[in-house]
Amino acid sequence: MAKQIWKGGALLAPLPAVLITSGDMENSNIATVAWTGIVNTIPPKTYISLRKSRYSYEIIEKTGEFAINLTTAEMVKSVDYCGIYTGRKVDKFKKCNFTKEEASQIAAPIIGESPLALECRVVETQDLGTHVMILADILATNVDEKLLDKNGKMDLGKANLIAFAHGEYFALGKKLSGFGDSAKKKRKKK
Ligand SMILES: Cc1cc2nc3c(=O)[nH]c(=O)nc-3n(C[C@H](O)[C@H](O)[C@H](O)COP(=O)(O)O)c2cc1C
Repeated sequence: MAKQIWKGGALLAPLPAVLITSGDMENSNIATVAWTGIVNTIPPKTYISLRKSRYSYEIIEKTGEFAINLTTAEMVKSVDYCGIYTGRKVDKFKKCNFTKEEASQIAAPIIGESPLALECRVVETQDLGTHVMILADILATNVDEKLLDKNGKMDLGKANLIAFAHGEYFALGKKLSGFGDSAKKKRKKK
């Protein structure tokens, strides 16, 4: 495969495009974030990287809490909107017609329309240059019951999640296989 060598850049893809909620039930904000991920399993830890100029950064610096709301194809227009306009000027919950729901462990609300929301408490921050990496514990996970079967098993495939790759939003598409399937023995045909 012929390759060009480009200078180093933030070109990892796909990434989630999540909605970060902050503040409290009265004064809340939403911002879109793609610089996020999981960094530890037990205890569960995540990070988001924010520019200091974001209103969300200002709020999270004060409260030490936020929620990560996963996003679906139906939410894509709002995902983009929340990543363009600042909460200093608009109420993004109202503009996007999102339902403000109480979280269980933090004062920040979660988005009713999001199928899965992680409640997070900041443990550490690191100024990396353009962005500040905010490392946080995941205290609780809010799961839409529509994703659960009668045994309580979750099927995230039903959620219609979206991904972000190099400036564009994509629907996740069809499931290819499951974790560990490559190690399963093929059943012999009779
Ligand atoms: C798809 C997408 C991903 C984004 N990812 C980030 C990010 O990881 N970090 C960040 O600081 N801003 C990111 N932004 C920009 C912020 O969401 C945007 O500046 C927003 O207006 C901030 O809102 P606030 O001022 O109300 O906090 C992203 C925007 C979009 C559309």
